[in-house]
Amino acid sequence: MEVILAKHAGFCFGVKRATHLAFDAAGKGGDTYTLGPIIHSPQVVQRLEEMGVKSVEDVSEIKNGSTVIIRSHGVAAEELEAAVRADLAIVDATCPFVKKAQEHVAMLSKEGYDVVVVGDAVHPEVQGIVSYATGRVYVVSSGKDVERLPRMAKMGVVAQTTQSFEHLNEVVAACLARGGETRVYNTICDATAVRQEETKKLAGEVDCMIVIGGFNSANTKRLAQICRELLPRTHHIETAGQIDPAWFEGVQRVGVTAGASTPKWLIDEVTERISAIDKDKIG
Ligand code: F3S
Repeated sequence: MEVILAKHAGFCFGVKRATHLAFDAAGKGGDTYTLGPIIHSPQVVQRLEEMGVKSVEDVSEIKNGSTVIIRSHGVAAEELEAAVRADLAIVDATCPFVKKAQEHVAMLSKEGYDVVVVGDAVHPEVQGIVSYATGRVYVVSSGKDVERLPRMAKMGVVAQTTQSFEHLNEVVAACLARGGETRVYNTICDATAVRQEETKKLAGEVDCMIVIGGFNSANTKRLAQICRELLPRTHHIETAGQIDPAWFEGVQRVGVTAGASTPKWLIDEVTERISAIDKDKIG
């Protein structure tokens, strides 16, 4: 059985950076916290917990003088300010691409633009980005949403980093159609699109797909969904222990991919387990 691993399976740049910063901070000892889970991987969160890192929901739950790690998709400006007020040592693991979106929003507000954020209003990244506006700010998920916004003389558009380019285009077109001045910052990061394209291609070339990543990870669930549409023999797992050897009956080629928050060690364990199952079959 041939096992084909997607080239970009696993950690994106921002998650890799955040995870390194978190393990570094944990290794230094002392009271260390994250505001919410650092990334959407229960296994990474568990490893950090074993090193003494606690995940809390609010700065008020953190002892003064401790270290707080800010997760890759950022936190709201008020939370960061509260951490500074509480005299916490801050390890800012916000992905630089998310940070850019936050900075554009702050700058647009300062220059008198009403801000339109293209994204999912309940996603923590978007809530963080929105919090940097000091004037009017709206979250939209489609061109139709733009039509419902109040009159704006100057509009500034930014996007949640995981949005598709087509989606941003649709919103920008709707903003332009309203007239007025429109300034656009393309804050999309292509890590998600690259993983999705690659996964789609791989699913078309194999008999069975294994998608590895947190059951709470939106980007992993999306990868599994893309695969399933092409190949019903798709299995979403978090760990190698969840693999059922029966999945590989009659399979010649198996594709493996993983979400942007899946660490390499989990991917290695999965590919090793598949190879071991194959050897057992032959032996
Ligand atoms: Fe950053 Fe893009 Fe990953 S915004 S956290 S590199 S998906």
